[in-house]
Amino acid sequence: MNSHTDTTTASEQATFWNEDGGRRWAAHSDATDARLAPLSDHLLARIGARPGERLLDIGCGTGATSAALAAAVAPGGRVTALDVSRVILDVAIQRYTGTPNLEFLLADAGTHAFTPAGFDVLASRLGVMFFHDPPAAFTNLRRALAPGGRLCFLCWRRLDENPWMGLAARAAFTVLPKPPRPAPGTPGPFAFADSERVADILARAGFVEVDFEAVDRPVDLGTLEQAMGWLTSMGPAAGPLREAGDADRAQAEAAMRDALGAAMTDGRVILAGAAWVVTAQWPLAG
Ligand SMILES: C[S@@+](CC[C@H](N)C(=O)[O-])C[C@H]1O[C@@H](n2cnc3c(N)ncnc32)[C@H](O)[C@@H]1O
Repeated sequence: MNSHTDTTTASEQATFWNEDGGRRWAAHSDATDARLAPLSDHLLARIGARPGERLLDIGCGTGATSAALAAAVAPGGRVTALDVSRVILDVAIQRYTGTPNLEFLLADAGTHAFTPAGFDVLASRLGVMFFHDPPAAFTNLRRALAPGGRLCFLCWRRLDENPWMGLAARAAFTVLPKPPRPAPGTPGPFAFADSERVADILARAGFVEVDFEAVDRPVDLGTLEQAMGWLTSMGPAAGPLREAGDADRAQAEAAMRDALGAAMTDGRVILAGAAWVVTAQWPLAG
C-alpha cells in the first residue's frame, strides 16, 4: 500500500497521506478498487449495512467502499466518509459527488470530536492501521457509536502471508539494502496483523465480542507492466527504489520483474492476499 512504515507520529501520518503517499494512492484508485474487489465484496457482506443505518467509513480513501455502503443503507440511512487526506478525499468527492446520502469529512479519525452515539456502524477497508495511538483512537471512535452498534473492518495479516506485496519486495531486496524491520505495531499497512494485539486495543477501547475472520483471496495485479507500476510506486520496495542510484534501481526492478514473471497465470500476476475481517460490538448497556 505504501512505503511509510517507519513513520510513527500522528502528524507524520497526516503529512504522508496529504503529500506524495496520498497522491500515489489516489493515482492508483481505479486499479486498487479492482484489485481489492474480492476482499471488498466479502467485507461488505460482513458489514451487512441495512437501510436506515448511520455509518462511518474510516479512512475512506477515494470512496469506493463508502459509495457501496451508501447504496446499502438507502433508503433512510447515510454514510459519512472520513479521511485525513485532502488530496485523497478530493478524488472521492469528484468520483461520488451527487450520491445523496454520502457526505465527506476531512478529519483525523483518531481525534475528531464526533457527535456522541451518532453512528450505528463503524466500518473501514484498510483505513484503521495508521493510528499513532490505536487505543486512544478506537476509544474516540467507540464514543461515536450508538449503544448496540457495531464495528467491522478489513486489515492485512502479515507481509509474509501476502505475496502479492511481499514477493516483489523480497526480490528487490536481493539488490537494494533492506530497510530495518519496523517494530511490531508501527503504524502502516501490516500494523494490525497480530490479532492478539488488536483484540487488546479494541477491548481497551470498550468493544466486546471481538472476532477475527481470516480471509484469503487472490489479488490480481494485472499484466506484468501493471504489477510493476503498482509495486514500484507503493509497498516496501517503493521508497528504497526511489532512493537508489540508476544502476541499482534498474537491477532491482529486473529482479522484481523476474520474480513476478515466474508467478504469472494466463498473462496476469495473481498472488495470494491474506486479511482479517475484524468485528466487534458496543453493548446496548454500554
Ligand atoms: C490504505 S488507504 C485505504 C483507503 C480506502 N479505505 C480503500 O480501501 O481504498 C488508508 C487510508 O486511511 C487514511 N488515513 C490514515 N490515517 C488516518 C486517520 N488518522 N484518520 C482518517 N483517515 C486516515 C489515509 O489517508 C488513506 O486514505
